Amino acid sequence: MPAPTPTARDRFLALLRTATDDGSLVKLTLGKPRGADPTLHNLFVRPVVLKSGPHLCFVWRHATRDVTKNLAPAAALAQLEPLIGGDFLDAHLFTAAQTAQLQCQPDGTSRLVVKAAAPTAAPAVEAAGHDRPKQYLIAAESPWLRALGITNDRGQPRAEMAAKFRQIQKFAELLRDLLEQAGSHEREGEAARRLRIVDMGCGKGYLTFAIAALLGERADVLGIESRPELVTFCNGVARTHSLANLRFAAGAIADAPLAGIDVLIALHACDTATDDALARGIQAGARLLLVAPCCQKELRPQLTAPPVLAEPLRHGIFQERQAEFVTDALRAQLLEWAGYRTKVFEFVTTEHTAKNLMIAAIKSGPAGQPDDAHAQRLRELARFYGIRRQRLAEHLAFPLT
Ligand SMILES: C[S@@+](CC[C@H](N)C(=O)[O-])C[C@H]1O[C@@H](n2cnc3c(N)ncnc32)[C@H](O)[C@@H]1O
Repeated sequence: MPAPTPTARDRFLALLRTATDDGSLVKLTLGKPRGADPTLHNLFVRPVVLKSGPHLCFVWRHATRDVTKNLAPAAALAQLEPLIGGDFLDAHLFTAAQTAQLQCQPDGTSRLVVKAAAPTAAPAVEAAGHDRPKQYLIAAESPWLRALGITNDRGQPRAEMAAKFRQIQKFAELLRDLLEQAGSHEREGEAARRLRIVDMGCGKGYLTFAIAALLGERADVLGIESRPELVTFCNGVARTHSLANLRFAAGAIADAPLAGIDVLIALHACDTATDDALARGIQAGARLLLVAPCCQKELRPQLTAPPVLAEPLRHGIFQERQAEFVTDALRAQLLEWAGYRTKVFEFVTTEHTAKNLMIAAIKSGPAGQPDDAHAQRLRELARFYGIRRQRLAEHLAFPLT
């Protein structure tokens, strides 16, 4: 009897085993959890070398904490196999030569896309023949980049952090341009002063450090993070490397002190945490708001669609993308109504994170009226998708129905 055709999941597991065996594994990310623990978001796996030999380091990312465990390769693979397509529906494998993305459905079917890897490390030198180090907006030799584990002792991006390094450079470029567009740094009626920038849900602070390094004495930068261990770590690195304009505080997005801020940033703040951050920035009169939304769950139970879309929306992935689109489209429209000129664009390639949409909003005028033309169009959009409540609308007291 011929052997059964391997499924997409079987082929993914074979790629994972090969990459682990031949040392080409860069990292594995599991997402879309569907296990019993609602606080679990992701599992990140990367190779590490311990005294006892090569291992795989597992980081279980929960809503408010990380749990880390190192396992020998055989034990790691044995633990991973039932999780892939079991507790996690999405799996993304990065090796030196390729990336493989597996998407599983609850009914057991799966789909695999394999692509050649993008160059893994940002080059430390410019084109061949030049010995001059490449000039990055955030110097690759910055000691804090090494302390955060992004670069090695030679000031080069570590292979597994190369995408993060590129994200940091891209973010710095973007912020520089947006600050220029947001206009002069003085608030009306005030003398020139340092910018006040708050990064909400800053995590390990990679991008918060980049902001402080980019702007130097032009800005005071505060990172707010709910996990106190990350706050302690980041404050330690900031102190050790004399970044006097950078500070981290433990706290929640909803309560952080924001009076008089100029710029509010919230990158990958899950679900309605993005709305909370936006609302706080608007209330504080920030002239630039910058968010990269993720995990748009709030509207899914409310979403209805015209009959013509019912058939395609049987597929979970289309429902998910529709929820992302409707959530972020409403947010962009609400920001416009609140008096902000708004742009929506892709931040970085999906290689680093699939959550790469960015919304940038620059204060440009007064907020609208509850019944002006823009407000009516906004309500039409909400009605079209059956949306009655949305967190940012509630914060702004905007009547959606
Ligand atoms: C996905 S990480 C993003 C980190 C960073 N902003 C980035 O994009 O690299 C989200 C972070 O927000 C923190 N967080 C989640 N909800 C929060 C809240 N309500 N208040 C403060 N921090 C929060 C989490 O602990 C986590 O470190």
